Amino acid sequence: MNRKPLKATAVAVCWVILSVIMALRIYFTSVISEHNAKLSAENQNLTSQNTKLSAENQNLTSQNTKLSAENRNLTSQNAKLSAENQNLTSQNTKLSAENQNLTSQNNQLETQRRMENELNVSRAQWSIDAYCPKPQNQNRQCKACQDGWLPSQSSCHEINNPDVPGKKTWEKARENCRGKISDLVVIVDETEKTFISNNSWGSSGTNGYWIGLRAEDGKWKWVDGSVLTENSWIQQPATNGQCVISVEKEGWKSVSCGARNRWICKKKALSL
Ligand SMILES: *[C@@H]1O[C@H](CO)[C@@H](O)[C@H](O)[C@H]1NC(C)=O
Ligand SMILES: *[C@@H]1O[C@H](CO)[C@@H](O)[C@H](O)[C@H]1NC(C)=O
Ligand SMILES: *[C@@H]1O[C@H](CO)[C@@H](O)[C@H](O)[C@H]1NC(C)=O
Ligand SMILES: *[C@@H]1O[C@H](CO)[C@@H](O)[C@H](O)[C@H]1NC(C)=O
Repeated sequence: MNRKPLKATAVAVCWVILSVIMALRIYFTSVISEHNAKLSAENQNLTSQNTKLSAENQNLTSQNTKLSAENRNLTSQNAKLSAENQNLTSQNTKLSAENQNLTSQNNQLETQRRMENELNVSRAQWSIDAYCPKPQNQNRQCKACQDGWLPSQSSCHEINNPDVPGKKTWEKARENCRGKISDLVVIVDETEKTFISNNSWGSSGTNGYWIGLRAEDGKWKWVDGSVLTENSWIQQPATNGQCVISVEKEGWKSVSCGARNRWICKKKALSL
């Protein structure tokens, strides 16, 4: 074999191998660099997404804080309103009871008024019949005094002159007058005194008509509580246990309150 061509061939092969190595290196360098670029871009992308998500997270955290506070607020408002509601419910219950009470009171008053009115009407009817009697086939005629009572000034007087068994002590006579919504006569002036004397029918001596005057604490006192001011109207002293009678033409006399006499009642006249 020839040595010279062998050497040349070996050099050529070496060149070829070197060229292939160089080519491969260039190729791989470019592939790796491309790959690196991609990874870098992706990394940037992920970093920016991470930043966004971080911001969003921060946002949501702050919203959560706010909503928590609001929730607490609403819970406390709810508690207050619940308490108020309970209060109002209990107040409502009270007012309902009160209302029921007032309604029943109102009903009672209504009934009372109706009864009072009936009483008033029956009194009015009694007064009309007593003071304004209706003679047969005639119109009603009103008088200041009831039948059996004599008018004098603005009063009515009833002269009670029963037979002996009907005569009464001063106290019993007074009871009789009171039973007729009147009292033993209290004489206020000279005219009435004369009127009473004029109407002390059939009296004489110590046989007269009780008037509303009796001795009390050493004074002559009227049944209305006043003290006799006209001392000339009776001469005798006011000795306890003594009462006064009116005697026709003889004036007044002091006799024992326990004696039995006729009597004169007095009440206000109706003003027509
Ligand atoms: C409930 O009523 C009471 C008195 O009745 C009062 O003191 C209290 O403040 C009331 N509470 C509310 C929440 O209104
Ligand atoms: C209702 O009236 C009765 C007595 O009539 C009384 O005892 C009660 O306290 C009253 N209730 C109210 C809520 O006013
Ligand atoms: C009953 O009469 C009196 C006066 O005597 C009067 O004041 C009262 O209002 C009357 N009552 C009724 C229900 O009419
Ligand atoms: C009392 O009777 C007399 C004589 O009868 C008479 O003149 C006088 O008017 C009468 N007075 C009274 C107040 O009745």
